[in-house]
Amino acid sequence: MEIRAPHVTDLDTLMTLAAAVIGPERAGPFIRSHLDRHHLLVADTEGEVVGVLAYRTDWFQCTLVSLVSVREDHRKRGVARALYHEVEGISPSPRLYSSTEETNSAAIQMHTALGFHPSGYIDNLPQGYRELLFYKRLHP
Ligand SMILES: CC(C)(COP(=O)(O)OP(=O)(O)OC[C@H]1O[C@@H](n2cnc3c(N)ncnc32)[C@H](O)[C@@H]1OP(=O)(O)O)[C@@H](O)C(=O)NCCC(=O)NCCS
Repeated sequence: MEIRAPHVTDLDTLMTLAAAVIGPERAGPFIRSHLDRHHLLVADTEGEVVGVLAYRTDWFQCTLVSLVSVREDHRKRGVARALYHEVEGISPSPRLYSSTEETNSAAIQMHTALGFHPSGYIDNLPQGYRELLFYKRLHP
């Protein structure tokens, strides 16, 4: 598996992966804005994009992972772990944040397995559930 920057030809797959998490309406503008800022990483297995991680670096002067999505038939094989490992290496800040809805037990367990610690939550969002924040200190 290779973690790399997206190619133009990956766009449709990225839209599909993002739409699975945030819905088709939000996926287009979300992927395009992260593409413009070069804040997307993809996991490529034998020429196929099987996962995407989007991040931003302007969040309270910290790095925030804004979306992770792995193709269903490639889950539990270390794809998300590899994507997080890459963003940890390129983060300009030693403070890495990530989040998920309080109902997403797989993502909550993933954050714990990847060494994140709970760091509060956001209430009153339109999604109807709390968004749990996770934090990882990358280096002293
Ligand atoms: C959550 C998600 C990104 C995990 O991706 P993945 O590639 O399957 O995760 P990995 O294989 O890299 O697993 C990393 C760790 O997370 C944990 N984990 C992953 N999926 C899990 C699950 N379904 N249940 C429990 N733990 C899980 C494992 O403990 C694993 O640690 P290990 O390697 O020591 O076993 C994937 O299930 C997904 O795309 N879900 C839909 C979108 C989503 O919920 N995104 C996150 C919120 S934005």
